[in-house]
Amino acid sequence: MDKLIINGGTPLHGSIRISGAKNASLPILAATLLTESSCSIKNVPDVSDTNYMVQILNSLGVSIERYSGTVITEAKTIQSAAPYELVSKMRASICMMGPLLARTGKAIISMPGGCVIGTRPIDLHLKGLKALGATITQDGGNLTLEAKNGLIGCEIDLRGKSGPTVLGTANIMMAATLAQGTTIIESAAREPEIEDLADFLINMGAKITGQGTRVITIEGVTSLHGAHHEVIPDRIEAATYMMAGLITGGEITLKNICRPHLKTIEEKIQQIGHYISYNADETQVTVSPTSNPQGCEIITDPYPSFPTDAQAQFTSLLALTPGISVIEDMIFPERFMHCAELNRMGAKIEVDRGKAIVHGVTQLTGAPVMASDLRASAALVLAGLAAKGTTQVNRLYHIDRGYEHIDTKLQDLGADLKRVPNSI
Ligand code: EPU
Repeated sequence: MDKLIINGGTPLHGSIRISGAKNASLPILAATLLTESSCSIKNVPDVSDTNYMVQILNSLGVSIERYSGTVITEAKTIQSAAPYELVSKMRASICMMGPLLARTGKAIISMPGGCVIGTRPIDLHLKGLKALGATITQDGGNLTLEAKNGLIGCEIDLRGKSGPTVLGTANIMMAATLAQGTTIIESAAREPEIEDLADFLINMGAKITGQGTRVITIEGVTSLHGAHHEVIPDRIEAATYMMAGLITGGEITLKNICRPHLKTIEEKIQQIGHYISYNADETQVTVSPTSNPQGCEIITDPYPSFPTDAQAQFTSLLALTPGISVIEDMIFPERFMHCAELNRMGAKIEVDRGKAIVHGVTQLTGAPVMASDLRASAALVLAGLAAKGTTQVNRLYHIDRGYEHIDTKLQDLGADLKRVPNSI
């Protein structure tokens, strides 16, 4: 179990390349189960979540080659049961239910457990797959979904109490590609990762329209073929590095970004008073700090609103921004575990019923801190980069789930840090 030792206080400078999106890569890799032909996916980040996904595919019978960010799959003959030891490591493995069911008529997968960012039910996934004709039974912690005579297109509303579901939309969209007839998903997730998945499925021969809107229509086809695809840039990784530049008072440039995906991030950075500019084709962004930042209000909501996955990182920035900021997470109201750790570093944050009230301070001080989930870990790394003295971020495996080579990327920007095994 590695930890990160950070000597804070160095303004970051320079440029780095943003990796492919983890949350787009995962369902796209799962979608390769839908065809027996070979698929090649470029720009897959080398993070532990994509590694688990590749291992799960492999255990299902998919042959895999992986080199320099490209994953080549061939799912000629596959089995329907995903092994518990691998599936239990990553909640996102539930997005294999749809493709397995559609391709083999059966999917056996363990029920995902609790999660530190809040209760994460899968009722909407099951509602959608049931509406497509699957029978679902639960036994011994496993879910068995069956559709002996294939899936049948349907109309389904995927709105939950917190709005649409991202992986639920992915699951139903993938399953519906091979269903008989037309499926209409209402209250679909609009996230760019869903659009990217739809683009890949269309490349495979699926008939999908409406991706990127709240209504997605899928006309089922009898089979899909192999396809090439390049995964979109990771908008959350980009937001995290923007925060790294700004929180340290440095100016950094990020290459391989997609500006439209960063709209609400851009708006909040400008509202705080910091500067943000793009190159001519808007594939590079530069952020630089103002000398007079001001606190702001952030409310997370489904895309195109402000993303919950960037909430913790903005909390770290706002902890060091004068004035009072209010942060409300509408998607995961319990996703504030980082605040107690930030307070141990000298932040003044009160958390109450899904809201964090942040009283900006002028200085954080380094401390040993414990990461609780992927984005909380990123927030603690950001705080450590800005803090006076040394910060030790423990349980680095959380961050390795979704940030490709974060230690070397930050070192390339001039950060003084090192990764060490926990025994040292
Ligand atoms: N929900 C339900 N029922 C369901 C599914 C979801 O009530 O069947 C609720 C959730 O509890 C939550 C809301 O709906 O309140 C949205 O959850 P969603 O299903 O959209 O989350 P997800 O698809 O499981 C993805 C990302 C998360 C990201 C959320 C929200 C992946 C692999 N994961 O999860 O990413 O926070 O969407 O945008 O795409 C991360 O990268 O750190 C991460 C947690």
